[in-house]
Amino acid sequence: MLRSIGFFILAIFLVSACTKDSTEQVEPYDPAHDYFSFANTDQIITHRVELDLTVDFSTKQLDGNAILLMDIIDPRLSEVVLDTRQLDISEVSVGDTIDRMQTAKFHFGETDAVEGTPLHITLPNDLVTEADLRVKIEYRTHPESSALQWLPPELTAGGKHPFLFSQSQAIHARSWIPLQDTPSVRITYSATIHTPPELLAVMSANNDPLTPRSGEYKFEMPQPIPSYLIALAVGNIYFAPLGEQTGVYTEPEVLDASAFEFSSTQDMLDNAEELFGPYEWGRYDLLILPPSFPYGGMENPRLSFITPSLLAGDHSLVSVIAHELAHSWSGNLVTNATWRDGWLNEGMTSYLESRLMEVIYGEARVDEESVLGYQELLLNFDRVIPERQALAPPFATGDPDDFQGTIHYHKGQLLLQHLENSFGRESFDKFLESYFADHAFQTITSEAFLDYLDKNLLSQHEDNLDRSKVEEWLYQPGLPADAPIPTSATLDSAAELAKSWSAGTIGILDISTDEWSPQTMVHFINNLADDLSTGKLAELDANFRLSDSGNAEISRTWFIQIAERKHRPAYEKLEAHLNRYGRTRLVDPVYRALAENGEDFELAKGMFAAARSKYHPITINKINTTFAKVDE
Ligand code: BES
Ligand code: ZN
Repeated sequence: MLRSIGFFILAIFLVSACTKDSTEQVEPYDPAHDYFSFANTDQIITHRVELDLTVDFSTKQLDGNAILLMDIIDPRLSEVVLDTRQLDISEVSVGDTIDRMQTAKFHFGETDAVEGTPLHITLPNDLVTEADLRVKIEYRTHPESSALQWLPPELTAGGKHPFLFSQSQAIHARSWIPLQDTPSVRITYSATIHTPPELLAVMSANNDPLTPRSGEYKFEMPQPIPSYLIALAVGNIYFAPLGEQTGVYTEPEVLDASAFEFSSTQDMLDNAEELFGPYEWGRYDLLILPPSFPYGGMENPRLSFITPSLLAGDHSLVSVIAHELAHSWSGNLVTNATWRDGWLNEGMTSYLESRLMEVIYGEARVDEESVLGYQELLLNFDRVIPERQALAPPFATGDPDDFQGTIHYHKGQLLLQHLENSFGRESFDKFLESYFADHAFQTITSEAFLDYLDKNLLSQHEDNLDRSKVEEWLYQPGLPADAPIPTSATLDSAAELAKSWSAGTIGILDISTDEWSPQTMVHFINNLADDLSTGKLAELDANFRLSDSGNAEISRTWFIQIAERKHRPAYEKLEAHLNRYGRTRLVDPVYRALAENGEDFELAKGMFAAARSKYHPITINKINTTFAKVDE
């Protein structure tokens, strides 16, 4: 029923709204409803999923079955509706216990480009059950399953074995498992995964670092998690320990470099427990993926998935690890109720990340990273319509993958920083610890967060900050006038040097970069004057070797500038950058800068056509969207 109300609202919205933007107010918007799932979760809820899947690299398919253990809430229930995308389903059976299963009729509903296809399973009239329902689905995934990337050996570090990985967030789990694909439902899961015998499978579950290679791997995830955190990878994967409870999985070719780069992981975990409360998940390991992994990291529980672009050789990009680890509290333990509340996952995590980075790497490093984040937020405000600049605007249509923007991350982080500043670190830390403890293994809406905050912090210290101020952050565009603005002394002086050198008041040899962090270099590059001559850009490149930087963030920043300024002598290296990295953040803005510079749109399209086969579908989609916007 809820679902059909959802459809009704959507239908009205689609008819009445123009194409301007998909975020306009939908009346009445229900913050507790997940508009991105077809599942009838008001009638029945899954509490466990059991998977048995065979990984077939030759057909690029997973083949096997999923058993859903469900609790019936509404006794009038006549069907179970699950989320799917491009799944080939051969048989469905239902029953109350394992030995009383019977075949059930099923049919697919209408396919939606973003949400996929609802699977309707009709419950037989003679089904005997009180409250438990077991649903078994025999199925096969599509070779283009949106969650799965099947890499040929050439796109791996070793070049000899294929590699498979999943990316379920936001709504891609349904493309490899038929289930209730909404963060508001939590499940435990088990899995048996059959692979070629020489490869290893790992999951967001209890990986045993000592598992022998056998081609059959068993997993158990005993803590209840939302579907977007179910994850699988298969490849020529090996393990190196980092600490007592921590380690890193990756291909042998990058194992030593990874163990070196992420050597602070155990320290981060120990500090995180001190700051945020107990770590509820057992081990914490990292999986370093091939370059096409579209994100910096993904917080799959017990096993964060990480881009190899962090392997800078100097630990300079490990704030991403702090971020994914921090999701073990904000996101994995306390989960956003719907994708519209994504700031509760990402903004809270960005704040916790900064707290962890402060303990381990010091305040100056956090200041630098916060300033860079703030600068990205300002750029984002320029590109995003006001309705989307609120932290918690209504979202009933659109693609939840697109909601992930700097706003959720950096505006969210600033709100939490503002709360810390307003109430003092001690009170705020106490609040956070009880927030995690009180909502452990639950989901939360922005509105419920506000109520909890009001009750436990705002109303206790009425003079510090009132509820309407927090509402401004949640529902209004831009930043409130009293938002905390990050500053960094080292970044300020680098910006000054960039300006003086651009203006010609100092020479290149007057700039000593010996003590600079990569973040300082990024800020220096971002502060160069708009009208720099080609000669000056070449001088900079020759002295600081920016086109050859092994640091992905420096390289990203530099090539955006190169593209904006049409500095053709560096285009060959720019193209090498686009082929070396696959993380969306590192390539999409470079394509955009080329496409928008007034001359190089065709060139950008050509470079993309040549590099495209190396990218993940999420990255390809993003670049296509970028190009489509430039075309408008
Ligand atoms: N959970 C996100 C990645 C994500 C967000 C995937 C939305 C799908 C939809 C992850 O924790 C993340 O935030 N990654 C960031 C790194 C971070 C340090 C900002 C990234 O990939 O850049
Ligand atoms: Zn995150």
